[in-house]
Amino acid sequence: MAHDILRRPADLRLRDFHGIYTVAPQMAELFVTLQRVARASCTVLLGGETGTGKELVARAIHAESPRRKAPFQAVNCATFSPTLLESELFGHVRGSFTGAVRDRDGLFALADRGTLFLDEVAEIPLDLQGKLLRVMQEKNFMPVGATRPVTVDVRVISATNKALGREVVEGRFREDLSYRMRVVPLFLPPLRERRGDIEALFWHFVDRMNHGTLRRIEGVTRPAMDAIRSYPWPGNVRELRSAVEYAFVVGEGPLLDVQDLTPELRGQPPPGIPSLSLADTERERMLRVLAKHKGRKAAAAAELGISRSTLWRRLYAYHLR
Ligand SMILES: Nc1ncnc2c1ncn2[C@@H]1O[C@H](COP(=O)(O)OP(=O)(O)OP(=O)(O)O)[C@@H](O)[C@H]1O
Ligand SMILES: [Mg+2]
Repeated sequence: MAHDILRRPADLRLRDFHGIYTVAPQMAELFVTLQRVARASCTVLLGGETGTGKELVARAIHAESPRRKAPFQAVNCATFSPTLLESELFGHVRGSFTGAVRDRDGLFALADRGTLFLDEVAEIPLDLQGKLLRVMQEKNFMPVGATRPVTVDVRVISATNKALGREVVEGRFREDLSYRMRVVPLFLPPLRERRGDIEALFWHFVDRMNHGTLRRIEGVTRPAMDAIRSYPWPGNVRELRSAVEYAFVVGEGPLLDVQDLTPELRGQPPPGIPSLSLADTERERMLRVLAKHKGRKAAAAAELGISRSTLWRRLYAYHLR
């Protein structure tokens, strides 16, 4: 029946703030704050669940700031071993460790006069945290193996989906550094709490994909839209975009129906997640391994023999986040 097909509302107007699309009032308020914060060089700590747009916000702050012509550099602190992270951030001189065959600039040097985005900052090992504090306070640092400090002017924006206060209490994060990092703390609300954004962003991604050659989606059946609206979107905007891509890849024709939705959206366990009783055992095992590695996901994933992203997905699926 025609009335059971939903189309893109003709009056749908998304705001575009440096690539952050939204119709949600909270986000409009956030943009005002971002414009103010951008003028200063203060450090910013971005909180919020995975996929809520923290990296986009970091880029937006840089783009709005007087530093916009200088480089923006980004690093995910969770993806490096401690030694490599130190060299990635601060650079090294030739011969300072095995494999250091020539001098190499680190991200602080490369981001001079610009902005450095430290993603998953809670994963920085304690001994490196001291060095980070120093560069943030004194504006200089020692490259690995160097004998003279290097001076830089870098704005640091960091992000974490952990509660930094808790990391401090549990001894994994330096208190002084935590204060330094969160001069301006900003929180990105989860997608499910942004009124209007699930649907608005759904149509936004459909529009984008409609320009491709896979398929042209012109409408959505009511049951499919109901599923999209009521799903909690634990992976937030990233997951929504992937769900739209999924529909373009697995389905065909102008109508998006329930069978074009990901198993999660259809209320089925995602493939790769074992059945209930098995899931219980796996959940236990994941908890045990995570506890053993003190919550360090990279190490836990390695021991479990799965990738970090698979571990993330399963933590969501098992409501362990
Ligand atoms: N409001 C938005 N409009 C358009 N695209 C968005 C929006 N928010 C997020 N995205 C897209 O979703 C993906 C995830 O965003 P981003 O990497 O900024 O999230 P994140 O909060 O840094 O996630 P994580 O904690 O997993 O690193 C990116 O591809 C980004 O472009
Ligand atoms: Mg990120």
